[in-house]
Amino acid sequence: MMRITQALLWGAVGLAAADAFLPGIPTVPYQTAASAGGFSLAHVQRIVVDRRYATSRDTAGQTLNPPTLFEFASLFAEDLRDALGTSAHAVKGTNRCSTGSIFLTIDEDGEYKNAAGESSSEGYTLSVDDKGIVVTGASALGVWWGTRTVLQQGLLALAESGTPSVPHGQGADVPGWRARGMMLDAGRHYYPPDFLTDLCGYMSFFKQNTLHLHLSDNLYNNQNYTRAQSLELYARFRLWSDDPAVAGLNKYANESYDRATFDAVQSSCAARGVTVLPEIEAPGHALVITQWKPELGLRTDLSLLNISHPDTIPTMKTIWRTFLPWFHSKTVSIGADEYTGPESDYNTFVNAMDGFIGTESGKSIWIWATFPPIWYVVDSRHSLTVSWYNSTWTNVYPNVHWEYFEDDPYYDYILHNYSVVNSNDDFYIVNKWAPPGGYLNTINLTRTFHGSPDGRFWRPYVFNQHNATDNPAPSNPLVLGAIAPLWNDYGANASVYSEAYYAWREGLPALADKQWGGNLSEAAFARVFGAVQPKIPAQNLERNIPSRGDVVFNYTVNHRSSSGTVHDSSPNKYTARTNCRLAHATGRSRPALSLADGCSLETPLDSKGRNYTLTLSLRLDDLADPTHATLVTGRDSALMLTPNITLLAGGNYFRLNETVPRGRWFDLAIVGRDNRTFASVDGGDEAQFLTRMGINGVYFHWAEIAIEAPVKTVGGQSSGWTGLLGGMSLTSTA
Ligand SMILES: *[C@@H]1O[C@H](CO)[C@@H](O)[C@H](O)[C@H]1NC(C)=O
Ligand SMILES: *[C@@H]1O[C@H](CO)[C@@H](O)[C@H](O)[C@H]1NC(C)=O
Ligand SMILES: *[C@@H]1O[C@H](CO)[C@@H](O)[C@H](O)[C@H]1NC(C)=O
Ligand SMILES: *[C@@H]1O[C@H](CO)[C@@H](O)[C@H](O)[C@H]1NC(C)=O
Ligand SMILES: *[C@@H]1O[C@H](CO)[C@@H](O)[C@H](O)[C@H]1NC(C)=O
Ligand SMILES: *[C@@H]1O[C@H](CO)[C@@H](O)[C@H](O)[C@H]1NC(C)=O
Ligand SMILES: *[C@@H]1O[C@H](CO)[C@@H](O)[C@H](O)[C@H]1NC(C)=O
Ligand SMILES: *[C@@H]1O[C@H](CO)[C@@H](O)[C@H](O)[C@H]1NC(C)=O
Ligand SMILES: *[C@@H]1O[C@H](CO)[C@@H](O)[C@H](O)[C@H]1NC(C)=O
Ligand SMILES: *[C@@H]1O[C@H](CO)[C@@H](O)[C@H](O)[C@H]1NC(C)=O
Ligand SMILES: *[C@@H]1O[C@H](CO)[C@@H](O)[C@H](O)[C@H]1NC(C)=O
Ligand SMILES: *[C@@H]1O[C@H](CO)[C@@H](O)[C@H](O)[C@H]1NC(C)=O
Repeated sequence: MMRITQALLWGAVGLAAADAFLPGIPTVPYQTAASAGGFSLAHVQRIVVDRRYATSRDTAGQTLNPPTLFEFASLFAEDLRDALGTSAHAVKGTNRCSTGSIFLTIDEDGEYKNAAGESSSEGYTLSVDDKGIVVTGASALGVWWGTRTVLQQGLLALAESGTPSVPHGQGADVPGWRARGMMLDAGRHYYPPDFLTDLCGYMSFFKQNTLHLHLSDNLYNNQNYTRAQSLELYARFRLWSDDPAVAGLNKYANESYDRATFDAVQSSCAARGVTVLPEIEAPGHALVITQWKPELGLRTDLSLLNISHPDTIPTMKTIWRTFLPWFHSKTVSIGADEYTGPESDYNTFVNAMDGFIGTESGKSIWIWATFPPIWYVVDSRHSLTVSWYNSTWTNVYPNVHWEYFEDDPYYDYILHNYSVVNSNDDFYIVNKWAPPGGYLNTINLTRTFHGSPDGRFWRPYVFNQHNATDNPAPSNPLVLGAIAPLWNDYGANASVYSEAYYAWREGLPALADKQWGGNLSEAAFARVFGAVQPKIPAQNLERNIPSRGDVVFNYTVNHRSSSGTVHDSSPNKYTARTNCRLAHATGRSRPALSLADGCSLETPLDSKGRNYTLTLSLRLDDLADPTHATLVTGRDSALMLTPNITLLAGGNYFRLNETVPRGRWFDLAIVGRDNRTFASVDGGDEAQFLTRMGINGVYFHWAEIAIEAPVKTVGGQSSGWTGLLGGMSLTSTA
């Protein structure tokens, strides 16, 4: 067994030799065999799981329900099928030499050390020769990351040489840091459960292990608002419980996760090595709590809890008592950022929650750093601070650092023995922040690839990108890792779900390389990303529809449509079904479908992401309610007349100033072009769908919105209109 040393991991960073690494995301330290060649994944039939370790789990990670090695192997087999079309399946066995197989095993004595020289259960060794592939992990999770390497290398070789092969050779790999991932603000914007699990699929492919989910928040509580306005302001708590103890806390069942749903999200993510780390935010950003119990808000700002009110801490304990049993993570976040109430109260609050959560559940906590604790250390009035250093249930008390204006991660925390997760706002996304200035719409790749003071790769220990004196050593064990957040300050209508993904599409993998300790160059990143990204398994965030050619479907209603099906004239043969009658269409050679009595046309598809052109040939005869007719629905959106041409997506209406004609035939085209969406009638000028964004009653502006095409159902029970459908087509160009 190869022993990994810190020197191997870190010394390797400076190596220039082309064969010292496999170009993956992240890169993999690897010595290719002298005899050039590779093992092809094309004909792998068996993933052989070492019988001795089939039920072994990694217990060192953050999740409380880690998968077994066999469970990981089964998903790996599915991934090979999905990405490469192999017929591989997982079996238990003992033979690492069986030709043409991939053998997965664990070396209990293997020692893999992270950047701080601490043992990591996430390391693995990859050995490839002409007989097959052996992945030996420090744990089942280490093996899983090894399978990501196999998959990535197969996809890269497939794209570049036509054969999905992994080069002969051997390498040992281990992440430099234990917390690697992203944070999603699901408080000010809802994300459906399948979006979260797809996102975990995306992260897992790049070996990120943490999805920090910010589950409660509110829009900015403008000081000019009246109390009544504050009580009406958008504020959400995303967990839905029937427990009477929290009745009234969450008023929006349709945009919430009940326990079964949240369990399923956590399990799907854990199945791919990603732990969901939940956050319930207080004592700031807590308007949803004061909307429930207004007496708990500070008179000066209702979005801040009045910690000295006798019911505040008990209320927060009630909330945590209710939801702690839901969480499958060993760590939870209590938020605790941007509190402008009294600092001593803040300290009391954090210590009280820390104590309660530890006693109640054994979990440790993260907080966003707000007040440098050094202030309390020197201030003898705040003696409770000591428990921050000496918690009985954990030896770390991590702060998630974000902004220099609040504190300094190195001088205020690390030098005082606090653990820190690097969430510096260099990598913040605030969805559609108003230009110019401020936060970007996508992660700044320059900072990722050149964000160290010396101009080289950014790393989790780099807090100050310009001054090395302000950063701890690469091996400092108090740097737990890095989490890059996406915030929704502009609220729910600023974006559709997938725009959070697009904000991270390139940046997430680029950061994942650096969070792991990889050393992919910016040029190599573009090459590897382009090759592997289109085939990432376990997600369809881009709503791709397999298609032979540009035309995805073309339904033209004709006499053959009468048997309940409408033929697709594209090579894809996505035959649609209908229970509508055929009707003669005056002035047209072909009949049309009569959309009446709640009948519909159903395609076998649901949604199409950018780019697309969806065209409908229609005659509208009657609208039951001219302000609410639904032409086409899909998984992510609905095309409506309100009476203006409207797209409904993520619960928000995006209306044009244009309408469509009544009582005559017209063509309506909806166009998704890159990050914008348009409509045009009868080939006329395109009108752009826009969203009107604002955060505190003042910063209003119009911004682009990228809505997926609804392609599932035309008409239907509550569509609210009758008319004729001549045809519908979808292409991948815009
Ligand atoms: C509050 O109202 C005053 C007076 O109308 C205005 O000048 C100020 O910009 C407002 N502040 C915010 C944050 O909206
Ligand atoms: C906070 O609550 C305490 C106790 O109810 C009360 O005396 C105090 O005035 C409140 N402070 C603010 C700023 O609302
Ligand atoms: C922290 O805990 C250890 C072990 O219980 C104890 O020896 C030490 O004195 C404590 N330190 C402080 C600052 O309380
Ligand atoms: C941090 O921990 C080290 C090693 O345990 C100790 O020597 C040092 O005094 C601690 N620093 C502070 C500020 O507590
Ligand atoms: C949309 O694309 C344009 C052009 O590439 C870009 O400038 C803009 O930032 C993008 N908007 C978002 C929200 O990503
Ligand atoms: C990206 O980061 C680099 C390095 O910090 C900076 O020079 C550049 O202005 C940033 N790009 C944008 C669009 O802000
Ligand atoms: C770098 O940081 C150190 C410590 O904060 C400071 O003394 C020094 O002036 C800084 N250097 C530059 C070039 O800003
Ligand atoms: C769909 O088929 C109709 C009838 O053949 C044709 O006029 C139209 O151009 C086709 N649309 C697309 C997008 O191929
Ligand atoms: C959830 O219900 C609210 C209130 O009826 C509605 O405004 C919102 O659009 C719904 N959200 C979704 C995603 O359907
Ligand atoms: C509709 O027209 C109004 C007034 O001209 C304009 O402010 C608004 O931006 C238009 N809406 C869209 C979606 O273009
Ligand atoms: C609908 O379009 C008209 C212009 O045709 C515009 O005046 C009106 O504001 C639009 N309605 C909405 C809700 O956008
Ligand atoms: C969509 O179209 C735009 C502009 O035509 C192009 O730049 C972009 O690469 C296309 N995106 C996809 C996913 O095809």
